Amino acid sequence: MNLALLGPPGAGKGTQAKKLFEEFGVPQTSTGDILRDAVRRGTELGKKAAPLMSAGKLVPDEVMVGIVLDRLRQPDLSRGFVLDGFPRTIPQAEALGSALERAGKKLDAVISIQVPEETVVERISGRRTCPRDGSVYNIYQNPPKRSGICDQCHGELVQRDDDKPEKVRERLAVYRAQTLPLEAYYDKQGLLRRINGVGPPEGIFAEIKTALGRS
Ligand code: AP5
Repeated sequence: MNLALLGPPGAGKGTQAKKLFEEFGVPQTSTGDILRDAVRRGTELGKKAAPLMSAGKLVPDEVMVGIVLDRLRQPDLSRGFVLDGFPRTIPQAEALGSALERAGKKLDAVISIQVPEETVVERISGRRTCPRDGSVYNIYQNPPKRSGICDQCHGELVQRDDDKPEKVRERLAVYRAQTLPLEAYYDKQGLLRRINGVGPPEGIFAEIKTALGRS
């Protein structure tokens, strides 16, 4: 199963990617997580990405394409992948398509999770993440057992720097301008599956499975 997840910030791409892994064992590749890890470790990539991410802007295509194509060559993705946050621009989609073709592979579907902007703004304002193990919570919908503490590793939960309201507005504008055109791009190829992303995560996952013919 080779999938890409599309959707605005806070649509639930990461949440659904984890469910796909739990049910089908297909590893999630989140470009946001890769970049945040690089920022935390202070690598060259992290130094380059940090100011762009913090401003809600995209990291340049050539950087992102290099990262994802390297990742796709790793053995754990040989039997399938779920891309979360990539592609995000038409040039990224073109580079992905060519690389998969060269490798004799293809995308099976592109899942676009549809959520109105006012809902994503509310979701993002409640998101708390664990920098240690990557767990994601929501103080309104899915709170940790102890406030501010990760259920899994007991680390301290934080709010992402780019989850502040003014940055979320910029991320939404970038999404509309640069990522939304991918819907038409993949629709033309017959790969796009639009999924209603409002409602409990389990119901959304059931819809995704139906769209993939796996329910
Ligand atoms: P990235 O980390 O990819 O951010 P994003 O696309 O903005 O997506 P989010 O992580 O904000 O949300 P999500 O859709 O995964 O939602 P989640 O499941 O967490 O990218 C960050 C930055 O990195 C970018 O701005 C850019 O700078 C850079 N970058 C990354 N990829 C790039 C690329 N390809 N090219 C260039 N730059 C790139 O859910 C959100 C919240 O809602 C959580 O609290 C969750 O618990 C809750 N929730 C989830 N589902 C539901 C539901 N059904 N009902 C209620 N609450 C829900």
